[in-house]
Amino acid sequence: MIKISTDNLVIPSKISDRIYLLDTSLRDGEQTPGVSYTVENKIKIARQLDMLGVDVIEAGFPITSEGELESVKKIAKENLSAEICGLAMCNKKSIDLALDCDVDRIHVFIATSNLHLEQKLKMTKEDALKQAVEQVEYAKSHGVKIEFSAEDATRSDLDFVIKIFQAVEDAGADVLDIADTVGVLTPSSMRVLANKIVSSVKIPVSVHCHNDFGLAVANSLAAIEVGAKQIHVVVNGMGERAGNASLESVAMGLKHLLKTNTGIKLDKLMETSSLLQNLSGIYMPPNTPIIGENAFAHESGIHVHGMLSNPATYEPIDPTEININRKYVVGKHSGTHSIKNKLNQLGFTYTEAQLKTIIYKVKLLGDQSQKISDEKLKSIVNETINQ
Ligand code: KIV
Ligand code: ZN
Repeated sequence: MIKISTDNLVIPSKISDRIYLLDTSLRDGEQTPGVSYTVENKIKIARQLDMLGVDVIEAGFPITSEGELESVKKIAKENLSAEICGLAMCNKKSIDLALDCDVDRIHVFIATSNLHLEQKLKMTKEDALKQAVEQVEYAKSHGVKIEFSAEDATRSDLDFVIKIFQAVEDAGADVLDIADTVGVLTPSSMRVLANKIVSSVKIPVSVHCHNDFGLAVANSLAAIEVGAKQIHVVVNGMGERAGNASLESVAMGLKHLLKTNTGIKLDKLMETSSLLQNLSGIYMPPNTPIIGENAFAHESGIHVHGMLSNPATYEPIDPTEININRKYVVGKHSGTHSIKNKLNQLGFTYTEAQLKTIIYKVKLLGDQSQKISDEKLKSIVNETINQ
């Protein structure tokens, strides 16, 4: 059953009315090549994520290092509203270290694809299934929530993924996560795969999508369309290789495209993104959706003309919803409406002839590849008016 909304969006009826976000900025996000956070900065990020309203904070992978262990322990003691989660491999040593951190949830993973089983783990499917069940039972016996991920699930034999998910569900897992570890699904493949998994188990299904083909957000939303209830996200879409599904795009996509809800305080998205950019040293390109410098900037004359009569003409989202001001940029694509609007904002009075000269000069500079800042525009106007 599907519903088609007035804006031509197809809204499948399987979509839950509350979607949970597990933020892994402190774990997969920190796997961004060249990025590592100090313990103090990890705590700062965890507090910000909590204020933002994520449901689960994956605070780290305790087996990685002393510092990682310390930061997961400290974040778990912060008394945040979000659930605190630690990642563990599917073995006792890794699970024990996560348990030592006193986290609320342990995220246990094992690879399920033949490629990973044969080439990396040197295990048979039967061994992997047995180990998964034993370790989930072991971790669960300590009274924590268990999220189980099938690593490389999307390149695995689907029957085997379902078999291992059903087995760990019986062993006490609380959430099952489909990892698109190398980002190879398309939204239509994700819908088929996630639908089969959702209908084969009783507990909530989650997705963890990588962005190797730029489809992490689309694939995450596709899983939600067929009944998945949780998405793994990372602020600014950071993460291993091309990164993970961006928290900002997922949160806005869930609200505006799938018409469902998260706990995210959308007006805190920009400050969260800025904090992570500053602490990681990874700055987002201007055309990044939602939080990029150009996400709500308009230059072309036709667009600015439309925008001045109704912003909905060229903006799918009202930027004030996320605490961002739209910008009108002057350049060679500007038209009369846009330059007039800018001159009025800057407090200039001018004649029609002067306006024509100003537009001419702006276009001339634009053709020479020059950027027209407000300062530059002011000097053009002053020069024109004084002539
Ligand atoms: O990409 C991946 O498969 C992971 C797992 C640990 C879930 O990050
Ligand atoms: Zn990952």
